[in-house]
Order: sequence, then C-alpha cells, then structure tokens
Amino acid sequence: KKKIAVMTSGGDSPGMTAVVRAVVRTAIHMGCDAYCVYEGYEGLVQGGDFIRQMEWHDVRGWLSEGGTLIGTARCMAFFERAGRLTAAKNMILNGIHALIICGGDGSLTGADKFRSEWPSLVDELVANGELTKDQVAPFTHLNIVGLVGSIDNDLSGTDATIGCYSALARICEMVDYIEATASSHSRAFVIEVMGRHCGWLALMAGVATGADFIFIPERPQDQDWKADMSTVVRRHRKMGKRKTIVIVAEGARDRDGTKITPTEIKDLLADKSEGGLALDTRITTLGHVQRGGTAVAYDRMLGTLQGVEAVKAVLEATPETETCFIAINENKIVRKPLMKAVQESKALAKAVDDKDFDMAMQLRDTEFAD
Ligand code: F6P
Repeated sequence: KKKIAVMTSGGDSPGMTAVVRAVVRTAIHMGCDAYCVYEGYEGLVQGGDFIRQMEWHDVRGWLSEGGTLIGTARCMAFFERAGRLTAAKNMILNGIHALIICGGDGSLTGADKFRSEWPSLVDELVANGELTKDQVAPFTHLNIVGLVGSIDNDLSGTDATIGCYSALARICEMVDYIEATASSHSRAFVIEVMGRHCGWLALMAGVATGADFIFIPERPQDQDWKADMSTVVRRHRKMGKRKTIVIVAEGARDRDGTKITPTEIKDLLADKSEGGLALDTRITTLGHVQRGGTAVAYDRMLGTLQGVEAVKAVLEATPETETCFIAINENKIVRKPLMKAVQESKALAKAVDDKDFDMAMQLRDTEFAD
C-alpha cells in the first residue's frame, strides 16, 4: 500500500484545511494510506507524533475551518542538510513514499530541493549506519507535489493561490465598514493591507471598493507621488465625495525603493498648511484578520479540487518527471512545473497587469465610483 503524506507550510491561508481534507480522503479512496505531517517541515524533522496516519472521519468538518488544523511553522532546521537528513529518515521509518505540500513559494522551493537531494540523503543514511540497505530499498526516489497556499496570490502560472479570494473578501468587507464611518465624518482613511512583495490584494481591493488611491510594490510611485495623490483626492472631494480611501500594500515603495508608509500618506492628507488637503485622517492596519477566518466558497472549491489532483499527480509521478504544482488556469485544474513558476514569480510581477492598474485608476475618477 502506498503511503502519502500531506503538510501545510509557511504562512497559513484560508482553504489549506480543505486541501488536507481532500488529500486525505482522495488518498484513502485510491487505496493508499494517508498521513498528515503536523507543524510543517518542523514536524518532518521532529518525526514521532508529528507524523500521524489519518482516517476518513479524522477530517470530517474540516472544509469550513479557517487556518490550518495540522499547524504550520517556519522551520530553520530544514534549511540545513542535517535537518533534511533527519526528515528523510523519519519519512522512511514511517514508510512514506510521497509528500504533498501546501505552502508559498519558499516552502515549495524547499520541497523541490528535498526531492532532488533525496538519493544522496538516503545514501548518507545508509553510509552512517542510521538505516539499512533493506530499509531504504523501497524509497529510491521521492515524489513531491506542491499546492500553492498563500493569501498574496504571488505565484506565477496560476490564476489564483489558495486563500487569496478569502483575504480579498475580508479586506473588502472591512473597507465597507470603514467607509460608513468615513462618510459620516467626511474623513480620510489610509488602509494598510498585506503584501510584502506583491500588490494583488491591494490592487484588487482598490478595484472592488473604488478606492481613491492605491500604493503597491510592483508600481513604484514617482518621486512626486505626493502631488499626484493630492490632485486626485482634491478632485474627488470637489466631485462631492465625503470619504477618501487610500489602500497601501505593506511593501509599497517609491522609485528609489524607499518604503511609502501609511503615516507619510496620512500626514499628507491631513496637511493643514496652505494648499494642503487638511482632511481629518485615520490609519487602519488590517493585519492578520486578512489571513484568518473561514475560507470563501472559491477557496474551498480550489483547495478541494487541487487536493484531489495532487494525489493523482503524486501517484503518477516518476523519477524523471519534474516536480509539479497544481495550478488553476482558465477554470481548469492543471499540473505545471514548479521551479519555472517560482523563477517567473521572482522575475515578473504577476499581480499587476498594467491594464488592471489603469482600469482601477480610471474607475475611481468616475462619478459612479462611490
Ligand atoms: O502570507 C503572506 C503574508 O501575508 C504577507 O503578505 C505578510 O507580509 C506576511 O505574510 C506576514 O506574515 P507573518 O505575520 O506570519 O510573518
């Protein structure tokens, strides 16, 4: 019987638990034993009770749960070969043939490295007497499949990462709440959203809420962003808008690479000197409410369909096939080469198509935007 393990790694995202449920049940349905590795790579390195066999009923009710019920961690030990050696030993001792990992690009890159090192790790375990030749014989190679769990929607090659639509929905809901009070007092709000390197959440929240101005990492603002923003906000106020909403991604920068902070933006909106906007302004940092909570229907569906596909992919993988991840392209669940997508994500800012950005900027200027 094949033994397949699933784990979640890196920052949690809504829909990860749907993935675990789908992998466990699909593996069982396909005649395999299903395992969960608790606490991400940390659990793989620790072994013991961190690696548990799961039954069909163990994941009952998990579809609607937020976060990840099998835990996640950022594991330093796995960055070292010694940690990966222990992880390999624990997998072999548990008889695990294949691993499905749901995490961000860092976690998936670690998985690819683990897979490529696997034969040498196994040799070393035999050479140093930790395992016998007979013990390692059925584990000559390791099959790994990735699923992208991230609220940032920051991996190239897939239309959506698991969790991004839940985070976006939560942001929009929060902006709606803020808008009510902003309008009441005719105030301005600077709303900081997550996205250290990727502005998809900020941009799409801007489109979806008709924000007055958006700052994202992929579109560094010109040096005169202060003048630009003031002009736009002044125009909107002249059009009769009683609220001003500026959405800023955590990683927003200017062309010199200097961080643009919510405080700087607030100071500008609140500037009472001559020619200043003099708006009563507040800052709201949405923080981890964006990441926690239950998954929207889209992420439950994505996690489930991709979890099913991941089990099929891991069972069909051979030593010759490249490590793949499960993507969604034009509403189809597909397998794609993992490392190509990781490299492309670093090279290009997938999130921000210039068209989208321009559209967002145009819509906010129309009278029906608010
Ligand atoms: O999950 C990705 C992300 O949400 C980033 O956008 C954010 O900067 C980061 O995680 C914060 O994560 P943590 O608080 O876990 O370090």
